[in-house]
Amino acid sequence: MKIQPFKLERYFAQYEFSAPYLLSPSDCEPFTLKELLALAGPETRKLWDNLWLGYTESRGLPALREEAAALYEHITPEDLLILTPEEGIFIAMNVLLNPGDHVIATFPGYQSLYQLAESLGCSVSRWMPRMQESRVVFDVNDLENLVREDTRLLVFNFPHNPTGALPTAEEYRRILALAEDRGLYVFSDEMYRFLEYDPRDRLPSASDLYPNAVSLFGVSKSFALPGLRIGWLATRNQEVMAQLASFKDYTTICSSAPSEILALAALRAREQVLRRNLEIIGTNLNVLDNFFAQHAQTFRWARPKAGTIAFPEYLGAQGVEAFCTGLVEKKGVMLVPAGVFDYTGQNFRLGFGRRNLPEALALLEEHLGQL
Ligand SMILES: Cc1ncc(COP(=O)(O)O)c(C=O)c1O
Repeated sequence: MKIQPFKLERYFAQYEFSAPYLLSPSDCEPFTLKELLALAGPETRKLWDNLWLGYTESRGLPALREEAAALYEHITPEDLLILTPEEGIFIAMNVLLNPGDHVIATFPGYQSLYQLAESLGCSVSRWMPRMQESRVVFDVNDLENLVREDTRLLVFNFPHNPTGALPTAEEYRRILALAEDRGLYVFSDEMYRFLEYDPRDRLPSASDLYPNAVSLFGVSKSFALPGLRIGWLATRNQEVMAQLASFKDYTTICSSAPSEILALAALRAREQVLRRNLEIIGTNLNVLDNFFAQHAQTFRWARPKAGTIAFPEYLGAQGVEAFCTGLVEKKGVMLVPAGVFDYTGQNFRLGFGRRNLPEALALLEEHLGQL
């Protein structure tokens, strides 16, 4: 398969380890190994100390699958396949799609969620959001209008990267009812789940509600452990699960043994881990609310409902590309302009899961004063 470059990953490759300040990351402040091990109970600590560095079980460490299954209502350890999150998207698209299929995907978005389908020879319709009372909303009526006779797969990502949008429970029910009614497979990217600012907004996993849904989750975002490269696919469709597991023999075969144990430690300490991350996000969101209130002439702020990222609009005359380039070159602060998401608006992705956000924002403010 020939595939287009992944623009976001290429952009990060350019700046992630050279720009002193990242104001656009999508993870939460990553843990150090020491901090994570301090959260591990005696049983997990023993597993870590005696870890055998051989190949691991292809489906994933049974204890990890058991702990991960506890995050769902109906999903059992047998319904899970441990892998790297990005690998999960790659495998699922290859398994679920055939050339010529029609796919609907939320847009703008994480590029692999629509790019892989295109590269596999599918046609992709973009389900675009609307602004409603300064909230970003994916309108289910718009989705209904996109479904065709030959639609095979509906791809969505809630909480959404890059806007932080999250449907209401009623909208979500309608989306899944539509999928069931029209016999569609669903790929639900749930990487930012558990980062809802109001816990009542948390949606069930699509894999719990709909047997033909494949859901993606992992420890990269909500659990602040992107360097472990651990995530999983969940589906109750056993035929699809068998195909997913079989495809993995051609990607990584099995996961990294140390990463599986460390992910297990994080899941077992989930209350502390999620509380820590939501505290960082909450503090940063207050800072951002004040910042955008003071700079309403320059930016349009749409407060997200969940996650670590938002997609504000830049209203300045120079345009968002030039603004982001000037900021990183003059102040060493990296933002991601809309073009990196193939999006034509003047928006940029802002990430607020890291502790140094106030410092980076102060530099941004200084830059605005010098424009
Ligand atoms: C929506 C979404 N899905 C999947 C991924 C892939 O996660 P990972 O980088 O841990 O493979 C990301 C990462 O940014 C993401 O934002």
